[in-house]
Amino acid sequence: MRILGIETSCDETAAAVVEDGRYLISNVVASSMALHAVYGGIVPEIAARSHIEAIIPVIDQALADASCSWAQLDGIAVTYGAGLNGSLLIGVLTARSIALCRHLPLYAINHVEGHVYANFLTDTSLPGYTLPARQPLFPLLALIVSGGHTQLVLLHDHFNLTLLGRTQDDAIGEAFDKVAKMLGLPYPGGPSIGLAAKAGDPYSFRLPKAHLTNKYDFSFSGLKTAVLRLAQEQVGESFGFPSIKLPERLNEAQRANIAASFERIAVETVVDKTISAYEEYQPAAVVIAGGVAASTELRRQLTERLPVAIAYTDPKLCTDNGAMIATIGCYKFKQHQPLADPYSLAIAPDLTM
Ligand code: KG4
Ligand code: ZN
Repeated sequence: MRILGIETSCDETAAAVVEDGRYLISNVVASSMALHAVYGGIVPEIAARSHIEAIIPVIDQALADASCSWAQLDGIAVTYGAGLNGSLLIGVLTARSIALCRHLPLYAINHVEGHVYANFLTDTSLPGYTLPARQPLFPLLALIVSGGHTQLVLLHDHFNLTLLGRTQDDAIGEAFDKVAKMLGLPYPGGPSIGLAAKAGDPYSFRLPKAHLTNKYDFSFSGLKTAVLRLAQEQVGESFGFPSIKLPERLNEAQRANIAASFERIAVETVVDKTISAYEEYQPAAVVIAGGVAASTELRRQLTERLPVAIAYTDPKLCTDNGAMIATIGCYKFKQHQPLADPYSLAIAPDLTM
């Protein structure tokens, strides 16, 4: 069984073909990241326009790389939320049109749930991918850490989950991106903070961890403000000093030490909660998903502290891609999950789990 996955929720235009929910046959990602980098964040209108230009070539490439004809596909899976309105619209309208023209079943995918399924891919003949040797077992504890979401989820089985906690304000990836901007590091902030942190001392500054009523909820806005206050203090200015002027005033050592201290605390926060949830629920496996799951510091801390072995997927499958959408689509197909109506499927920009 082969499913084409289409993903356009943010700035990546992505399509992939996955077989049987475990074999990655093709994976094409075109990103408009370079166009957004000059603004230090995603510009929704630019993202939507880029999707229009890229979507057909990306899908054609995914099918060509898979040596797969339309007739060899069993269905289409598309992200319908959460994400940016204009971006989601391009993917959903394209998938609806294809489903109608090619008479293929259509599955509407929750982007955040999709991220988890990157961990179910175990085989590929594509070069440059390191995949886990076997699929994770249920009950499965998933830490989802991306630019838009931070959640701890317990999956009892496919499509049967309990949301343990979520962020009450910023997502962890958003905190990385905003702190990078304050420090004058390039967008996206996750990888650039990771790089800058290598030259710094992660224990040079004390930064706060938020404590919430539900111990599995998250909050990163206070940490972000604490970093701003720390940077202002480091350059000898008061709290009114504009963050936009900080990069030119910070020296390399200050930048590296702030990046390292922030990265350690942000990662420790999500690892603390993952360990607590592991101890409370004793899942059969733990996975991490979403763009920040590519972080080497997150993988290092989790491997060190988790009492069981954990397998990580290829970092290329952590950031937005069509493979994760195609993979969850395979399980929707296998388990006879409800189909989406190709005449009416609407986007759901604020979709939650
Ligand atoms: O999952 P994703 O590609 O898009 C969303 O669904 O939001 O995640 C993007 C986020 C950004 O905040 C980016 O800074 C972060 O993932 N990110 C990383 C790494 N690569 C991307 N964070 C830490 N380490 C990385 N290597
Ligand atoms: Zn994502």
